[in-house]
Amino acid sequence: MQLLKLGGSVITVKSRYRYFLQKTTRNIMHELLKIKGEVILVHGGGSFGHIKAREYGLNGSPALSSHNGISIVHRDMVDLNQKIIEVMLSEGLYGIGMPPSSFPDPFQPPYELISNYLKAGLIPVTFGDVFIRNGNSGIISGDDLMLALATHFKPERVMFLSDVDGIYDKNPKTHSNAELRPMVRGNEIFEISGEDVTGGMGKKLNVMSKIAKAGIPVYLINGKRPERIWDIGRSHFIGTVIN
Ligand code: ADP
Ligand code: IPE
Repeated sequence: MQLLKLGGSVITVKSRYRYFLQKTTRNIMHELLKIKGEVILVHGGGSFGHIKAREYGLNGSPALSSHNGISIVHRDMVDLNQKIIEVMLSEGLYGIGMPPSSFPDPFQPPYELISNYLKAGLIPVTFGDVFIRNGNSGIISGDDLMLALATHFKPERVMFLSDVDGIYDKNPKTHSNAELRPMVRGNEIFEISGEDVTGGMGKKLNVMSKIAKAGIPVYLINGKRPERIWDIGRSHFIGTVIN
């Protein structure tokens, strides 16, 4: 089994509300079509999630004013999910959307149901979403779901597709001299998640390191160049392996 996350930075333009990158998504699906065996997909929110979640202050206790936000962010995320499934269908991949806001516990995906979908030849596609638990509302990120799914299913490998070539010693978007790190070890992660690393990448590194510690190979690859997944393990591979 392979577990793969499509970062919101790859499939949307993060600064433009609800701007879906259909062609980029199609290119990724084109590569996924060639994967033999079971695949579970997770996707992030990008501009379908983060913009309104921030606007409505979604992460603490539910306030009256955030009811709107919960509904809006969920609608937008389901919409993004269905856009992805539509692209998958056009490529001959059969995805089935699984919104965490409908899971009894959003942080524990329904593993048996996922297994049943896999057995039926479907590709479960879950995603960052809103949730309400113990009276608190919040956002569960695709990265949280990756950790739960990797821990449970122990896939052969876990791939995070983002909009950068891998993990750098500093944020490559703000530092032109940033250097790509082909390999990051768990205990180095905290050195590079300092002030130059956004919360987004910091959290991702944390999750990737936990998955790697469970003995599962984890890779960060540029989703704009999805064919690179076939270079994993080769000398010319461009990306970062976390171990
Ligand atoms: P995604 O939406 O792909 O899940 P995020 O947008 O949360 O991911 O994180 C990816 C972003 O993290 C990149 O666009 C990059 O600007 C930023 N980033 C910050 N620090 C680093 C770093 N050290 N190496 C690579 N990317 C970094
Ligand atoms: C965020 O999920 C989901 C919402 C904001 C609703 P992620 O945190 O996984 O999204 P990206 O990949 O960073 O965009």
